[in-house]
Amino acid sequence: MSKRIDINNLNVYYGEFLAVEDVSLSIEPKSITAFIGPSGCGKSTFLRTLNRMHEVIPGARVEGEVLIDGVNLYGDNVDPVTVRRHVGMVFQRPNPFPTMSIAENVLAGYRLNNKRVSKSQADDLVEESLRGANLWNEVKDRLDRPGSSLSGGQQQRLCIARAIAIKPDVLLMDEPCSALDPISTLAIEDLMAELKDQYTIVIVTHNMQQAARVSDRTAFFNIAGTGKPGKLIEMNETPVMFSTPSEKATEDYISGRFG
Ligand SMILES: Nc1ncnc2c1ncn2[C@@H]1O[C@H](COP(=O)(O)OP(=O)(O)O)[C@@H](O)[C@H]1O
Ligand SMILES: [Mg+2]
Repeated sequence: MSKRIDINNLNVYYGEFLAVEDVSLSIEPKSITAFIGPSGCGKSTFLRTLNRMHEVIPGARVEGEVLIDGVNLYGDNVDPVTVRRHVGMVFQRPNPFPTMSIAENVLAGYRLNNKRVSKSQADDLVEESLRGANLWNEVKDRLDRPGSSLSGGQQQRLCIARAIAIKPDVLLMDEPCSALDPISTLAIEDLMAELKDQYTIVIVTHNMQQAARVSDRTAFFNIAGTGKPGKLIEMNETPVMFSTPSEKATEDYISGRFG
């Protein structure tokens, strides 16, 4: 169940440090939104506020609203654990549990939320999730092997399978291909294009070709200098952002004249 996200006037802090300032933007369901911008401008920080992962760091907090289909994630009585069940996350480095089998890796998140799962339910969920992550055919004969026996690209698809096994509404991906070779990268990009029929997808990427290839809309973030907060400079349909951006800073960044 894909959902829309509306972020209103979000400030993101690490203690006293304002890392991201006053961001308002909307993310459409059944689409891929890319966050681009130079290193340190707060892309990862901002992404982690969308499933309340930011606040696990001591002193970290936000001001403002993140609405998912109109419900504020930061409202009173909202349980961050529930939020994370609806908003899944895939990280830069594939992080399967190394000693757990491929099948158990797929089930790991699901088991946290559902104590009792029958063998046949578990088998079905493993197959469905691995098929959903375009990995089933490669691993169906070795589901009991450790997750760490897979290649990097396969491990990342395994992490995507683990994320979709809990049937989230939103999938956040922080530079999901930055540790992968070009072939594995294309496999993940193809997968994202398929998954957007079912999920709201948000990716951070430092690879502008990737943003141009996979995303429907692109948001460009920038910082004025070290110690300054990251800000959203502009957001638009991806082809527009890459052909006729409104802001000079965007044009400089996408044409490689950044700095
Ligand atoms: N755990 C943390 N504690 C304090 N500051 C942090 C932490 N993580 C990131 N930052 C700071 O927040 C800013 C944004 O970082 P980050 O979100 O990682 O940027 P990006 O993903 O765009 O490279 C940087 O100044 C970074 O040093
Ligand atoms: Mg980052």
